[in-house]
Amino acid sequence: MSKDNTRTIEMYNNGGALEYINHKAIDPETDKWERLFKYVDTGLNGDRNKFIVEFGSGTGDLAKMLQDQSYDIVASDIVDDFLEEQQRMGINNVVKYNFLTDDFIKTFGKKADLIISWRNPHLNIEDVKKLFEVVYNGLNDDGLFIINFQNALVHPDAEIASDGTKYNYLILKDKQTQEKRFYAYYTKEDIDNFREGLFDIVEYHNEGGAEKLNWHVLTLKKK
Ligand SMILES: C[S@@+](CC[C@H](N)C(=O)[O-])C[C@H]1O[C@@H](n2cnc3c(N)ncnc32)[C@H](O)[C@@H]1O
Repeated sequence: MSKDNTRTIEMYNNGGALEYINHKAIDPETDKWERLFKYVDTGLNGDRNKFIVEFGSGTGDLAKMLQDQSYDIVASDIVDDFLEEQQRMGINNVVKYNFLTDDFIKTFGKKADLIISWRNPHLNIEDVKKLFEVVYNGLNDDGLFIINFQNALVHPDAEIASDGTKYNYLILKDKQTQEKRFYAYYTKEDIDNFREGLFDIVEYHNEGGAEKLNWHVLTLKKK
C-alpha cells in the first residue's frame, strides 16, 4: 500500500470524508448514480442471484440503489465516517475493509460474482496492481470487475512519480475539501497492462466532462 494512498485515507479520516458527505447536500449527483446503476444492472443482465462487493463505497449511493433493487450487495470502506454514512443510508451489509491490505475471503466470507471499484483514483501503479490481484482472487470463475480510472489524456500537466505513476495532489473545485489528495491518471495502455493475463474486456467507454473523456470505464471479466 503506497504512502499516497495512506495519506489520502488519513485526509478522509481527518474530516475529508465528512466534507465529501456534506457535499451531497449541494450536489447529490443523482444522474450519475442512476447511470452507474443502469450500467451495473445491464452488466449483470438483471440477475439478482449474483453476489456483489463494492470497494471504497464512500457515501454508499450505488450500494443503496442496488440493495433497493433487490441485489445482494456488500458495501465497504476503510474510513469510519464513510461506513457510518453507509449505515445511515440504510445499507444492510457494511464492512470495514482495506482492499489493499485485508483478506477478501475472511472479510466477505465467499468469492463474489461482481466487484466494483468506482472513483477510487487515489492509487499509484503498485496499488492498482495489488487491487487487480485482490479482485482476481476474490472473484468466482467468469466473475466481473467494474472499475473506472481518471484519464491521463486530459491531465497532460500531471507530474510523474519515480515508479511512472502520472499524478497530482489536488483540491477539486467541485468538492469542498480543505486538504489536497492524491489523484493518479492512467492511459488505456496502462489499464491493458494491469489487466494482462487476468481479465478480458467486456465493455469499455470514456465518460465525464465536456469532451466525455475524463474517465475510463470498464467492465472486465476474469480469464
Ligand atoms: C473519491 S471516494 C469515492 C467514493 C465512492 N465510490 C464514490 O464514487 O463516490 C474514494 C473512496 O475510496 C476509499 N478508499 C481509498 N483507498 C482505500 C483503501 N485502500 N481501502 C478501502 N477504501 C479505500 C475512500 O475512503 C473513499 O470512500
